[in-house]
Amino acid sequence: MLAYTTFMSTPLDGAPSLSSSLDAALRPSHWDEYVGQKQVKANVRVAIDAAKKRGSMPEHILFYGPPGVGKTTLAHLVAATLGSPLKTTSGVAIERSGDLAAILTNLEPNTVLFIDEIHRLSRKIEELLYPALESGHLDIILGKGPSARTIELALPPFTLVGATTRVAELSGPLRSRFGGGIYQLDFYSDEDVRDIIRRSAGLLKLEAPEEVIERIAARSRATPRVANALLKRVRDFSEVHGRELSAALCDEACELFGIDAHGLTKDDRRYLETLLRGFRGGPAGVRAIAAALHEDSDTVEYVYEPYLLRLGFIERSPRGRILTSSGRAFLGEENILA
Ligand SMILES: Nc1ncnc2c1ncn2[C@@H]1O[C@H](COP(=O)(O)OP(=O)(O)OP(=O)(O)O)[C@@H](O)[C@H]1O
Ligand SMILES: [Mg+2]
Repeated sequence: MLAYTTFMSTPLDGAPSLSSSLDAALRPSHWDEYVGQKQVKANVRVAIDAAKKRGSMPEHILFYGPPGVGKTTLAHLVAATLGSPLKTTSGVAIERSGDLAAILTNLEPNTVLFIDEIHRLSRKIEELLYPALESGHLDIILGKGPSARTIELALPPFTLVGATTRVAELSGPLRSRFGGGIYQLDFYSDEDVRDIIRRSAGLLKLEAPEEVIERIAARSRATPRVANALLKRVRDFSEVHGRELSAALCDEACELFGIDAHGLTKDDRRYLETLLRGFRGGPAGVRAIAAALHEDSDTVEYVYEPYLLRLGFIERSPRGRILTSSGRAFLGEENILA
């Protein structure tokens, strides 16, 4: 079971989940509430302010980074700052040329069009998108064969905000259309995660002592969405047991959820153990590891590995993944505890 994927999206396997309503309730609606990522914020705000001064829309912007680090939130902030309507869609939803044409021709002027998981757009759709991004028109082909002709349809002004967890899968030509900037959102510092938890606890009207905030932050995988989900789950645990939030209560709750002091779940530990025992610590190709885990290699690469890399427990080399000495030490500790 993909427990970590579910950790991010649907509630299964005892891992904390974050319902979309809570996601929305805790989503920052002002730049001041958007913690960290200072450089990204500063750059995007310059692009917005400059465009506002010119009385035009900013150039197209791309955000990329792991799940739950604030890409969608930034798209909302961009639209709100411009006072623009936000139209949200996703690369998976735009399958046929007609889907894209319908979206673009129905945009209100000066809309922010947010395309999530933009790497999923097919080449055919990308090609249709280029003239729309560059010169604000859509090429529509009428008829077939030798009698086919193209008409240019002018589009209302809009700014595309793209988001992706897999920037490497974006084609070069599409990348080059993001004149407003391509911004990487990375994992958050411990301090930033603590700030996010403090803010969320306030919104949820929770009395959370500093030791609780620290405990939750340390187990949040440096990711705001995980932090909020875990805070909510610990709150539920405290309510069910009629006990106040404390460090001891956090530890009990996390043990029940199967989350260790690093924020790792049993699936992460299974990954590390497979790399150690099945592949003698590597190097091992991601496909081989995925096959040994009976997982899909995308899940392994984009869900398990980023945080294990960040912790320094694994390394990527040209010949495959390698368990580092910290990774080995971690497993050693685990075995002593087991
Ligand atoms: N910088 C931040 N400051 C405060 N809260 C944040 C920040 N970034 C994200 N969050 C919180 O985390 C939640 C998840 O963020 P968001 O949905 O923007 O992530 P995402 O990068 O779009 O994730 P995905 O890749 O899964 O679509 C938001 O609802 C918000 O509450
Ligand atoms: Mg998102």
